[in-house]
Amino acid sequence: MSQSKRYEGKAKIIYQSEEPEILLSHFKDDATAFNAQKQGQILGKGEVNCRLSAALFELLEAAGITTHYIDQPAPNQMRVRAVKILPVEVVVRNIAAGSLCRQTGLSQGTVLPSPLVEFYFKNDQLGDPLLTRDRLLLLELATPEQLEQLQTMALQINQHLKTFFERCGITLVDFKLEFGLDQEQKLRVADEISPDTCRFWDRAESDPNARVMDKDRFRRDLGEVESTYQRVLERVLAQIAPPLQS
Ligand code: TMP
Ligand code: ASP
Repeated sequence: MSQSKRYEGKAKIIYQSEEPEILLSHFKDDATAFNAQKQGQILGKGEVNCRLSAALFELLEAAGITTHYIDQPAPNQMRVRAVKILPVEVVVRNIAAGSLCRQTGLSQGTVLPSPLVEFYFKNDQLGDPLLTRDRLLLLELATPEQLEQLQTMALQINQHLKTFFERCGITLVDFKLEFGLDQEQKLRVADEISPDTCRFWDRAESDPNARVMDKDRFRRDLGEVESTYQRVLERVLAQIAPPLQS
């Protein structure tokens, strides 16, 4: 195959396809946390995250939200439109957890009165710092119009995903999005949407550790990492294509 590697990140390798505007995203089993200070593998993760992201990008496209997704030629491979990724991580939070609790003192599990949209500078050397909107504009990471659009799209995506995951018996606590600009300068959701990039809590569990269905199981050494990733995929696929009634 005449594919050349364009970029290798912590969880994915991006190859150039034979068509200039199409890239191949290969999802790896490698897992990192705390800015790669913790490293490991989650067996089967590449496939789970690729299938889940594909399903969720399809769901968003059906709702009129543009993404970089084209199709999924193999279980751990996705064809995507080439986009210029903005160096901004957009985090949406419905419930307080993680760095929001550490930085504000809010207790984990506090339901936020309305979804919170945050922007982080995608810069490993600086440790992906939280940005103010003014700092984001100062650094010219996006234009004021793009910033508005990122906020609007992030909230729309949150609404769609929150409703969908509720039907799967999962609470969408928070998640991170990346966006890219296509050739027409149109913003598209890019990267992935998976248990690596979202916090999911099982609605059937009240125990704060038992309910965790995402990468926090790896970050915090909670065990049952692989099987939990598989369970998220099963629930999502069952919701998309419910089993036939006999
Ligand atoms: P945080 O509470 O650690 O700031 O994380 C917020 C959300 O963003 C959570 O769903 C995990 C996701 N996330 C990433 O996808 N990549 C990252 O590098 C970090 C720090 C968080
Ligand atoms: N993806 C990040 C890293 O390794 C951190 C995380 O997801 O917690 O560096």
